[in-house]
Amino acid sequence: MVSLLENPLRIGLQQDRIPEPQILVIFGASGDLTQRKLVPSLYKMRQERRLPPELTIVGVARREWSHEFFREHLKKGIEDYGGGIHNQMLWENFSAGLYYCSGNIDEPESYQKLKAFLAELDEQRGTRGNRLFYLSVAPRFFAEATQQLGAANMLEDLAKQRIIIEKPFGRDLGSAQSLNKKVRGAVSESQVYRIDHYLGKETVQNLLVFRFANAIFEPLWNRQFVDHVQITVAETVGLEGRAGYYESAGALRDMVQNHLMQLFCLTAMEPPNSLAASSVRDEKVKVLQATRLADPLNLDRCAIRGQYTKGWMKGKPVPGYREEEGAPPDSTTHTFAAIEMRVDNWRWQGVPFYLRTGKRMPKKVSEISIHFKQVPHLMFQSAAQQMNDNILALRIQPDEGISMRFEVKTPGSSLRTRSVDMDFRYDAAFGQPSTDAYARLLVDAMLGDQTLFTRGDEVEESWRVLTPVLEAWDSPADPAQIPLYEAGTWEPVEAEFLLNKVGRRWRRL
Ligand code: BG6
Repeated sequence: MVSLLENPLRIGLQQDRIPEPQILVIFGASGDLTQRKLVPSLYKMRQERRLPPELTIVGVARREWSHEFFREHLKKGIEDYGGGIHNQMLWENFSAGLYYCSGNIDEPESYQKLKAFLAELDEQRGTRGNRLFYLSVAPRFFAEATQQLGAANMLEDLAKQRIIIEKPFGRDLGSAQSLNKKVRGAVSESQVYRIDHYLGKETVQNLLVFRFANAIFEPLWNRQFVDHVQITVAETVGLEGRAGYYESAGALRDMVQNHLMQLFCLTAMEPPNSLAASSVRDEKVKVLQATRLADPLNLDRCAIRGQYTKGWMKGKPVPGYREEEGAPPDSTTHTFAAIEMRVDNWRWQGVPFYLRTGKRMPKKVSEISIHFKQVPHLMFQSAAQQMNDNILALRIQPDEGISMRFEVKTPGSSLRTRSVDMDFRYDAAFGQPSTDAYARLLVDAMLGDQTLFTRGDEVEESWRVLTPVLEAWDSPADPAQIPLYEAGTWEPVEAEFLLNKVGRRWRRL
């Protein structure tokens, strides 16, 4: 599926070029994401000379802000959430390219006003009609904004105009299909960048390198050697004042459909022919097409939800989900989800993939662990009563790295074994922090590299796998039936059963 604009000889994932001068237009620019993440990341990239001096950022939102107010607001964001300003000259140069244009997302006049303003900026700043529109708005506006941009002919140049769409892209299979249809009616797929910030993380990209630049792991990466795979994204944070959004999302929509499914794809997919965007994305789609819930007719046996109750985090009491500001006292929204999936292909037939994520867990940690099969005949006694799995663990964050767990003989006269870890740590090996995920993805979008963005068919396949669970969990439930876990503890007992019933257990992280 090579798009017309994609040069198959151009290798994706390489950021050694500097993007063309351009205007980044952020819709929803008065929100947190712009102040906390997007602009601090862009400032850092300018500091590192990875963005052109002509880079211009135009914030669009309903509030009536002045350019000056917007600049001060963003400056505070860089000071509080980025690395700080440090170089006054650089800040002056950067901030001279920051503008604000108030507007309503559903009013055609706002787009005409914006269009005229951007044309003026092209003259002043030499941005030559290059535009990147970033939709950092509530998901219900994704279609509207894209269609309005299309109607105002602001996306008609396939090579110079692109659009980034935030997550969640749809709420289930049907709504994702309908959103895709509307988006494609206004813009070509080659201009659409559906963002998932997990793909911008260095360690996530390293999955490709780890798997396909080393000859020793790939021969083991299949049903013959792998017993099962666990993918965990645990967070310590709670609702963070986002009840309005989270109540209609829950962990499955907020984390599993996008971030965890991306980690799954990169772990399970076949080697792509090259790093061209279409090759990588084709393989991700292929593996998703072969993926299903482990027991679709008995969802309770392959999908477990949970909600946190009050508890303790780092020695401080924290409220339960139903006591959080904005959450209904009888809410049935799940803040934890665990699912078991199977991949019906030659590589993975019969190998369970367990995915779990939750808020208010004891530790912030994201990890993919490959659990290898036990030896066929055991001659030794293990110090742990039973022999442990050999585990290859890819730590996505924090303490980014890779470790391999295997058995060794304990010192002494008896022949007993114990598990030890062989550890690689990014910070020790490279001594430099990795590039921020948003920075990486923004620059990729400016360069026109879609490799780390989700294609329309990919997002639909991922929703397809999860839609039966979404439907079941969306239907009205008795609040007393939702499994609970105390804030600051791991999964609810029901989720332990998912693995215990077949003699496995979740990895303690
Ligand atoms: C976001 C979710 O996409 O990812 C949040 O909406 C979540 O609920 C966040 O906290 C986690 O991202 P990270 O990079 O901190 O793991």
